[in-house]
Amino acid sequence: MIEIDIKNAFSNKVGLRNGIGERIFRNFLSKNKNLVTKVFQSKDKNGYAFLNLPDDQSLVRKIKKQVKDHQKNKWENIVVLGIGGSALGGIALRDALLGPHHFLEKKPHLFFVDNIDPDFVTQLFSYIKFEKSLFITISKSGKTIEPMALYSYTKEKLIQKKLNLKKHLIFITDPKKGTLRPIGKEENITMFDIPEKVGGRFSVLSSVGLVPTALGGIDISALLRGAKKMRDVIKKSKPENNPALILASLQYIFDNRRNKPMTVMMPYSNSLFRFGDWYRQLLAESIGKNPKTGPTPINALGTTDQHSQVQLYSEGPKDKWFIFLHILKYKNTLKLNGNMPKELEFLNNKKLNDIIDAAYIGTSESLAKNKHPNITLHIPKLNAEILGELFMLFEFQVALLGLLYKVDAFNQPGVEQQKIITKKILSNK
Ligand code: PA5
Repeated sequence: MIEIDIKNAFSNKVGLRNGIGERIFRNFLSKNKNLVTKVFQSKDKNGYAFLNLPDDQSLVRKIKKQVKDHQKNKWENIVVLGIGGSALGGIALRDALLGPHHFLEKKPHLFFVDNIDPDFVTQLFSYIKFEKSLFITISKSGKTIEPMALYSYTKEKLIQKKLNLKKHLIFITDPKKGTLRPIGKEENITMFDIPEKVGGRFSVLSSVGLVPTALGGIDISALLRGAKKMRDVIKKSKPENNPALILASLQYIFDNRRNKPMTVMMPYSNSLFRFGDWYRQLLAESIGKNPKTGPTPINALGTTDQHSQVQLYSEGPKDKWFIFLHILKYKNTLKLNGNMPKELEFLNNKKLNDIIDAAYIGTSESLAKNKHPNITLHIPKLNAEILGELFMLFEFQVALLGLLYKVDAFNQPGVEQQKIITKKILSNK
């Protein structure tokens, strides 16, 4: 299970101006414990229904059957066409569990085309063999320009190459609404539902995240098991031990009472860097709703960004607080030999694992010394179950934040508005 270490958030570590008094924090948790109950009670309401996703065993069975059926096609590539909440969870899962270099290692390769940059699209589409590729279009609304443009391009290519649409396409969309559903019916395409009451950025544990990653070889049962485990912990824990309430309270207090509108998520793991991207959308799109409420999430990577961002983080404005993701046991151990030059002799026979660990401790301690509050999520190891825990933990945190900040965490009128203007420009041409 993930453990949260919040000692560097308190005023005895980072001072009264930047930190939180332990007693005040305990009182805040206790005062807001009813919000946890409120979220659980709302589980069948619009948006909050993400809480039910780990229980959908019939979906798991349907996906596992598809995986089996598709194995005989020996796909070289699974290509997801989707954007925002329809892509970021899958990307996070792919990198966390298959690894950022998985393209060198395993087939099928799992690609996410989440932009319409013509160079980005052309480079992939001119490289892959269409006859060896499965294309999954994911769009809840079926109206989003980017995935629909990519879908139309893909379909044309498949037709030109006289390939069977039913074999090469899967749709993941709203069960009733949207434009993909009727196309899918007409073409007899395999379709998966995105539950009506689950929004894009809360949909990673639905067919949106599960279908592509199961086809890519990820253990989706373990993923959902982890999510369920975390949901139980959140339900049963006392306020002072409740991980979601603790995370939500820290976010709220640092932003609103300590003038720290920026939240930096910094995993010491390349595999978790895109998890930071997923969280960036979750926090920004859910809570950034008016000029007064809107924490800005930033994702950074340890140790890489120690040589890029940490100067600013340490000595720059005290407008940030930090969430470190620290892996206790990496999948691999890499030991250095004894050939270091004299000045670096202390590295002889050290493991990269020891070095990255020391670097994380050094950074968190030095930020605390410079009066920057930071917390750490200690992650025992990277596997599907832990990822399930992480997704549920942060989704629950953001649901709580909606209540604390008094905003609708589940809509995105700002995103809708730009979609409308873009459509207008393109239609008038
Ligand atoms: O979180 C959200 O709701 C958005 O980011 C959507 O996922 C994104 O705009 C894509 O929408 P759709 O799945 O309808 O294509």
